[in-house]
Amino acid sequence: MATRDILKTLRAEHDELRQLFEQMEGTTDRAAKKRADLLARIKANLLPHAKWEETVFYPMFAERADRDGLKTHAEAVEEHRAVEKTVPPDVHAAEFGTPQFAGRVKVFGEMIDHHASEEESTMFSMARKLFTAKERAGLDVAYEEWKASPAAAALTAVAEAKTGLKAAARRVTRRAQ
Ligand SMILES: [Fe+2]
Ligand SMILES: [Fe+2]
Repeated sequence: MATRDILKTLRAEHDELRQLFEQMEGTTDRAAKKRADLLARIKANLLPHAKWEETVFYPMFAERADRDGLKTHAEAVEEHRAVEKTVPPDVHAAEFGTPQFAGRVKVFGEMIDHHASEEESTMFSMARKLFTAKERAGLDVAYEEWKASPAAAALTAVAEAKTGLKAAARRVTRRAQ
């Protein structure tokens, strides 16, 4: 069996997300149900990944990083914040069978791809030097266990609820205008 490595796992999850966004890109406005299913799968893949990076991987990385690494870390944290705050609520506020949804989900996918590519080329290559192979294997096991834990379910549920609430608030504001 190949050695486990958290960086390989995170990268594979990025590829899976890219794949899902690609499938989304291929849908038409008539495929509202397919779009809803794909968005649910995107969120089910993205939320645990992002929350674990934010709560475990990024802080560990920051503890060992030099000045350049800290800048990379700050940029990644900011991109997570920007994506979480703006894009998913906009996507949620659009009806699935509309060009608005198609456009917003496309931007969502582009932001994820940009962020993931930057992680892969910068942060992960730094992390390969900051963490030993044994540590990376241990982190991979810890991540798998965390994903199956109630803590992961709670964190992702909170993230999901925030997104939904913001979208609902926007709909109400729009109607009131
Ligand atoms: Fe990330
Ligand atoms: Fe990532």
